[in-house]
Amino acid sequence: MDNTKNNKLSQDLGAFESFKINADGLQAKTSNGNFQIKVYDAGIIRVHIYFGETTDTNKYSVIANPIEDKFSIEDFDSLILVKTSLLQLEISKSPVRFTFRKPDGQIISTDDTFGTSRIGEQITTYKKLQEGERFIGLGEKTGPLDRRGQGYEHWNTDSFAYGSEQDPLYCSTPFYVGLHSSLAYGIYLDNSHKSFVNFGASNDRFSSFSVDAGDMDYYFIHDNNVEGIIRKYAHLTGTTPLPPLWSIGYQQCRYSYYPDVEVERIAKTFRQKNIPADVIVLDIHYMEQYKIFTWDNKKFSKPAELVQHLKELGFHVVVMCDPGIKIEDGYTAYESGKQNDVFIKYPDGTNYSGSVWPGLCHFPDFTKESTRKWWEDNLNSYTEIGVDGFWNDMNEIATWGQMLPELIEFDFDGEKDTARKGRNLYGFQMSRATFEGTKAGLSNKRPFNLTRAGFSGIQRYAAVWTGDNVATDEHMMLGVRLVNSMGLAGIAFAGYDVGGFVGNASEHLFARWAQIGSFSPFFRGHSMINSRDSEPWAYGEQVEEISTNFIRLRYKLMPYIYSLFFEASISGLPLQRSLAIDYSFDHNIYNGLFQNQYLFGPALMVAPLESDKTLTKVYLPEGEWYEMFNDQKFEGNQEMIIECGIEKLPVFIKSSSIIPLAPKANTNTQGLGDVLEIHVYAGHHVNSFVYYEDDGESYDYENGQYYKRTIIYNPETNSITLEEVEGSFKSRYKHLKFCLHAFNYSSFTLQDQQVAAQKHDYRFIEPISNFDPFGNETGEGLKINEVMSIATEYVNDSITLKW
Ligand code: NOJ
Repeated sequence: MDNTKNNKLSQDLGAFESFKINADGLQAKTSNGNFQIKVYDAGIIRVHIYFGETTDTNKYSVIANPIEDKFSIEDFDSLILVKTSLLQLEISKSPVRFTFRKPDGQIISTDDTFGTSRIGEQITTYKKLQEGERFIGLGEKTGPLDRRGQGYEHWNTDSFAYGSEQDPLYCSTPFYVGLHSSLAYGIYLDNSHKSFVNFGASNDRFSSFSVDAGDMDYYFIHDNNVEGIIRKYAHLTGTTPLPPLWSIGYQQCRYSYYPDVEVERIAKTFRQKNIPADVIVLDIHYMEQYKIFTWDNKKFSKPAELVQHLKELGFHVVVMCDPGIKIEDGYTAYESGKQNDVFIKYPDGTNYSGSVWPGLCHFPDFTKESTRKWWEDNLNSYTEIGVDGFWNDMNEIATWGQMLPELIEFDFDGEKDTARKGRNLYGFQMSRATFEGTKAGLSNKRPFNLTRAGFSGIQRYAAVWTGDNVATDEHMMLGVRLVNSMGLAGIAFAGYDVGGFVGNASEHLFARWAQIGSFSPFFRGHSMINSRDSEPWAYGEQVEEISTNFIRLRYKLMPYIYSLFFEASISGLPLQRSLAIDYSFDHNIYNGLFQNQYLFGPALMVAPLESDKTLTKVYLPEGEWYEMFNDQKFEGNQEMIIECGIEKLPVFIKSSSIIPLAPKANTNTQGLGDVLEIHVYAGHHVNSFVYYEDDGESYDYENGQYYKRTIIYNPETNSITLEEVEGSFKSRYKHLKFCLHAFNYSSFTLQDQQVAAQKHDYRFIEPISNFDPFGNETGEGLKINEVMSIATEYVNDSITLKW
């Protein structure tokens, strides 16, 4: 029966008719449609299915090109085989179905009998659920770590005070990882129309992914482990560029700090209290009636002076950038926007209007090159006065009432299309315009760029934060899971509003949030208008001490964290790593009790807990672990109950870990002192860490002005080696200190010379003065680490410590 007649019933690709081999894959015709196979890497095969004569693809997310040669195609009677060194794609001819296997024939993923089929414009691919299959990733999505049994929609949506199960939220990245039979694969659905992913939410028969319109265009990724798959996804969609060092310090935000003297008061309070911070964020009230590119001439009468004063206090300024341009005669951005024809339009050529903060607005069409240029020119008014951080908000597009009509037209760089395809890309393209525009305006300086909405590949242009969360424990834990999941989807630079945006945090909630946030890639306190003050000192002395402790710890960890950002910029590996990356097949990590635990870089495991808990259950995966604050050692593969008062957080360090640390942390990322401490934790396996440093602000590193060296801990040869330095940058550190945890040796040599080792106490955080020990009957405060340390001059030649 021909189902196409009424277009109501589903129709699959039908039978294979003919194909042609191309340099990068093959192109085939079937009785009902077409498909193309392209090889992007031995472990990446793109399947592109379309039913009409023309294709409709997403040109913005993928930046890799297909490869030629490194695959073979064999044609048999009933099937075609595409082979690479990592994958075999078997395409059955009648009906056309796709099966991915390992080279040894093991099935990784195979189509369900429904294959890929369409109902009208909607196209769905059905994959058989494999025995015990789990699903992780998909970016900013609520729900559990293991997404089996859940379904999700991709449609960027302003989600004020979202519920902990709400879907969709602001940012869509249709990339997930499937796990079964000790193997992992990834699927990236490269289509920006509204789409859906079903992880066996209907039944135990299939998982599926659907697009409302456009082509079924997906990349199948396979590698030996989840890490390899994330790297390959990053190969396709790009990595987070190295951010300016200051942007990974603490950022203080508020909707909104005003007037200018209040902003300066906040900045000065940080300095008076020796709470390190690098950024003050100006939310919408800096503008005149919320009009972008203007300053309120009463509240912020001398913006250049304000930025300069803040700079003198060691602060960078991030400004809110909303896309809505107020429709108001005489408003420069509106007039020039009209003149330059920059706005998205109805089909009759009139500009679309929607209401947002300033009232009725038009919205720039960032899929148009001339609009991006116009945006860049306007952004110069910020960069000229020294603003170097930009916050792209309300870019889902958020308008009061939400109903962005689907017939609105976008330029798509000359290939006009509607909001059906454009909506999910709006935040992405806006972030691109802001990033590229400010990069140009700041000459050789790196801008910091933040966004709420985005699509796959957004990591190339902006950090992403989880929008309008709520001041509850549930949201704090959800935020951790969202950032873990965004990390799985290529977004290495992500975070949440510490303290909660909506509502009032309790004292302990803020303290816990500051602790956990200090171990998140993007670290910013923010809260909503008409809520209580929410700076680290606004919750009383005890909370001030606790949050100061952890913010300082964050700064101490800066050499480690910056090195991890360097790694992320190369590999795409996130800083905040769900345990599903390293322990993918350990079923305990998916337990609801442990699913929020994560690794912060390779060395630290954070076990977030609610603010009202003083006891918590933690799962230690295989290996050996040290509790961060007292070096107590534990065997892995066990669940443990940990006592944890509000003054600390359960953080464990993997044995054999190497953590470079700057001990001085009172002001900002410029004030980290000149001693670099290399902390090493005794273990049984050889480990290495790539230490990276540069000027933290310019692009000179692209011309070799960086400082990179590998640090190797080898318990077999009893040595720690800092390999010779690569790059021409001069390190800011002058002294080196090896800090050895759980080392029971007394005699050490450095470059074959006997050296003195000192045993002493070491504190990552300070005890709390008027600390209420919460039923800790011994009244004991924090325990201390006992460290063996060896100090020396910091030189560029290879350095080896032996014992
Ligand atoms: C919405 C953002 O999510 C929030 O963080 C911001 O404070 C408000 N817009 C006001 O600009």
